[in-house]
Amino acid sequence: MTRTRIWFAAALVGIGGTFLATAHSQPLRKATPRLEPVAETKLLMEGMADPNTKALGKLLANKPKDAEGWAFARGQALLLAETGNLLLMRPPKARAGEDAWLTHAADLRENATTLARAAGAKDYLQARTALAGVANACNRCHQSFRVAVRVDPFAE
Ligand code: HEC
Repeated sequence: MTRTRIWFAAALVGIGGTFLATAHSQPLRKATPRLEPVAETKLLMEGMADPNTKALGKLLANKPKDAEGWAFARGQALLLAETGNLLLMRPPKARAGEDAWLTHAADLRENATTLARAAGAKDYLQARTALAGVANACNRCHQSFRVAVRVDPFAE
């Protein structure tokens, strides 16, 4: 063993010893990590909601030809569903808008999950219907919060 390794081992024994001593002398305190929003909502829109919705519009403009295309669509839909989860963490500061926000965010998650399922089943009609449902969820929230962005994944 080199000198450094010995020191390292000694340090580990020290830490372990302290930990055991603490564990014996104090009742276990659970420090539960909490969900905390970090990015601005605008960034989630620009980085997750918008690009995945546009990509799905392109991907589902015609029926995907192979399993890879469907797998891609499913993944994008799931990222949108997770965006719904991230939005649930970020209701507006004013309590008045909280219920509407949570409803729309959960709506996005639900519609995107339906879309992921349709893509998993390679069901083209259902997938297109579900993508329209996703866009409706986007637009309903934008309307509620006076965001002048109209989402239409089939526009291009
Ligand atoms: C729960 C509410 C909510 C949902 C659901 C929602 N948005 Fe948004 N969106 C917002 C808010 C609030 C803003 C304004 C953010 C800001 O400017 O700070 C915004 C802004 C945007 C913007 C403009 C970003 C910019 O650069 O200013 C785009 C694009 C966007 N949303 C796309 C989408 C798409 C696509 C979806 C659905 C997949 C969606 N949004 C779902 C609340 C929502």
